Amino acid sequence: MRQAGQEEKERVRDASDIVRVVGEHVSLKAKGREFMGLCPFHDDHDPSMHVVPSKQIFHCFVCGAGGDVFAFVQRFHHLEFREALEYLAQRANITLVPRTRGSAVESPAEAGPTRADLVWASGVAASFFQAILRHESHGRVAREAIAARGISPEMVEAFALGASPDRWDGLAATVRSKGLPTAAFVGAGLLRPRESDGSHYDGFRNRLMFPIHDQLGRVIAFGARKLNPEDEPKYLNSPESAIFEKSGTLYGLQLAARAIQSERVAVVTEGYTDTIACHQAGLSNVVATLGTALTSRHARVLRRLCDTVILLFDGDQAGMRAADRAVEVFFAEDLDVRIATLSSATDAKDPDELLKRPGGVEVLRRVLASARDLLEFRCARLAERVEGAGPAVASRRIGEELERLVEIGFNRLPMLRRRLITRRIAEVVGLDEATVWKSIPAGRSAAGGGTAGNADASAPVVAMPSARELALGCLLAFPDLWTTLTDRHREALDPATWEQPEQRAVVEALFDAASAGAGVELEAVRARLDDPGSQALATGWYMRVVAMTEGSAQRGAECLRDCVSRLVEEGSADVVRDRRSTGSVNRRSLPRPIRAV
Ligand code: UTP
Ligand code: MN
Repeated sequence: MRQAGQEEKERVRDASDIVRVVGEHVSLKAKGREFMGLCPFHDDHDPSMHVVPSKQIFHCFVCGAGGDVFAFVQRFHHLEFREALEYLAQRANITLVPRTRGSAVESPAEAGPTRADLVWASGVAASFFQAILRHESHGRVAREAIAARGISPEMVEAFALGASPDRWDGLAATVRSKGLPTAAFVGAGLLRPRESDGSHYDGFRNRLMFPIHDQLGRVIAFGARKLNPEDEPKYLNSPESAIFEKSGTLYGLQLAARAIQSERVAVVTEGYTDTIACHQAGLSNVVATLGTALTSRHARVLRRLCDTVILLFDGDQAGMRAADRAVEVFFAEDLDVRIATLSSATDAKDPDELLKRPGGVEVLRRVLASARDLLEFRCARLAERVEGAGPAVASRRIGEELERLVEIGFNRLPMLRRRLITRRIAEVVGLDEATVWKSIPAGRSAAGGGTAGNADASAPVVAMPSARELALGCLLAFPDLWTTLTDRHREALDPATWEQPEQRAVVEALFDAASAGAGVELEAVRARLDDPGSQALATGWYMRVVAMTEGSAQRGAECLRDCVSRLVEEGSADVVRDRRSTGSVNRRSLPRPIRAV
């Protein structure tokens, strides 16, 4: 069983080039024989993630994230191993041996549905809603609504639109008659339990169903628009769940990601229908928030894919509110943010309406092309408020704006950017730059930055590897060196002497690989490791040594010799110390100062 699983895993890995897979999530630039990109696992502003095609690994020297293509996908999308395998298999057109459904489904009362169960239920429901949409009578009203909106059959297909039937037991009856496990549907908000008798009824009734996908294209939730004008609310969203976090999700991203990446620009609209209309009109780099404000999670998702985000809002009021919020969210990110509002160019209420008019696409393209930089936008507003005001009021308003900028992280921006912003404000309010610069409040501690940037962006620091770890790294990078080790050296590295479980797992795998005659290179060792933590550790040791030695086998040999001789020395020091029971023996843990890489 494990053997078959292993083969399957190898096959999928071979078909999933890590540079391509990572490159689909993060923009990469070639650098020598490696590729570099912004690390998605910490708040990275300078590309510090390496992707090494020859080894099919990635590694970040700053936060220590690393591993193979599975590890990347798992961490990026918060997937269990099986989910990552399924995603990569599907991507490579490989059919996996179907897995029997987990026991959590059969005994939902005990464990509750897993993430995989929720994804599965959402997919089943999406197919059900699509079938209803096609149904002669049950789907008629929804089909009429789609036609009235001018949504093309291609878009119905691409966005997998559907309809929930006008009854309390549409999906519920299907789930019951097919004997499907209800817990997963309840967990995803698709079914609701009746208090009275424990039976279930539909969570969505008589609505046009917009499946919401994750970036992998799996359905994780639904947006549901009323079909009966008398119903409330107009749109209903699935509740949040283990697979659906509303404030981090962008509608349409599964279809838009490629275009966003190739054009280096993302357009964010306000609505589901706006996004669909844009795609239909050939603008494929368009997504929508789910009726929420922009968050730093959205910003981070987009920053990995592009340099510029255009916020496309319906009217001036909405645009200004958005600009206010966006400044908080995007300020500290290395993203150019632009604001486009429709009201400047047309009386159409939203992009969807505009695109239904003849020549609407051209107007929309013009609106996007003339989108104003977020700071320009704010500066222009400041100028309006300062204009004609008396000096006291004017200086107070300028002061307020500067305070606001500091509040949201101005003082943490790179100097160059601060200078440019200052110059721009100075121009707008008609003061000299030096005066504005001096008026900028000193600001608070870095922690008091409001919502700017990323709340979870604590600066990670990877500990320098110890001599033992470096020795292991040398072996992983230059496997031939294994045969140069004496028995004493091997004893000093023995798995039993490592306390931390993740470290021990790596060392055990290495010794295993050696005694199996498989060679101790990184691939062979990693193939014997199941948990991502120890995989990342092995990758990190390897990468550190490759960087230190610049890939030279001779320097690798020197480094290993250095490390192990110190270990042996230290080992005898320990013995001596134990014998004498003194605690003051000098214990060096590093062979020599390590060049920072
Ligand atoms: P709109 O009211 O502008 O809807 O809300 P729309 O996209 O133009 O849709 P139609 O054409 O009237 O059907 C914009 C977005 O705000 C969210 C939805 O995400 C919607 O797409 N919204 C709106 C809600 O979440 N709940 C609501 O009750 C209304
Ligand atoms: Mn709208």
